Amino acid sequence: MKPDRPSSVAGTPVVAPLVFVPRTSKIPGAGPEPMAPALAAQVNPLIAAHRERAGALLPLLHAVQERLGHVPPMVVPAIAEALNLSRAEVHGVISYYHFFRSTPPGRHVVQVCRAEACQACGADELLAEAEALLGCKSHETRSDGAVTLEPVFCLGLCASSPAVQVDDQLHARMTPARLRQLGEQLEILA
Ligand code: FES
Repeated sequence: MKPDRPSSVAGTPVVAPLVFVPRTSKIPGAGPEPMAPALAAQVNPLIAAHRERAGALLPLLHAVQERLGHVPPMVVPAIAEALNLSRAEVHGVISYYHFFRSTPPGRHVVQVCRAEACQACGADELLAEAEALLGCKSHETRSDGAVTLEPVFCLGLCASSPAVQVDDQLHARMTPARLRQLGEQLEILA
């Protein structure tokens, strides 16, 4: 029968060893991977260009995503240290804004505006159509890596809704038929 508690041998109580780890100590091998030299060579100049600015975090994250297409988790410690923030704060901002991606996007990025003016002109139906045409859900990258579909909030074409951006190109008054045409041109239809 199993004892309810650790037994003792020859009068010596058997207790589980306690390991005290101060909150400030570094655990060898713990923490995210450091940036690879090639990644650091791209990101460090961006950090240097932004670190002295007030409210540098968002512009810096934008710059990193513009350069790399996403914000890799490995850059978070360097950004946190440079801006005197905690890693959790940096990570919190990245995960709060849908705009920021932590993984690389597909070869083409299709963004469908879902803000108010576009919603009033059928953005939800257009997004559903895009999911069907491209064969991937919104916020996802298709398994062949050809396309990422993202809902976004205002592309600045509110007067010509609904608006879509495909890679860097804005398209006003989008319709399912035009979306299909674009998909055919880029060879990204499912
Ligand atoms: S609401 Fe869609 S572009 Fe502004």
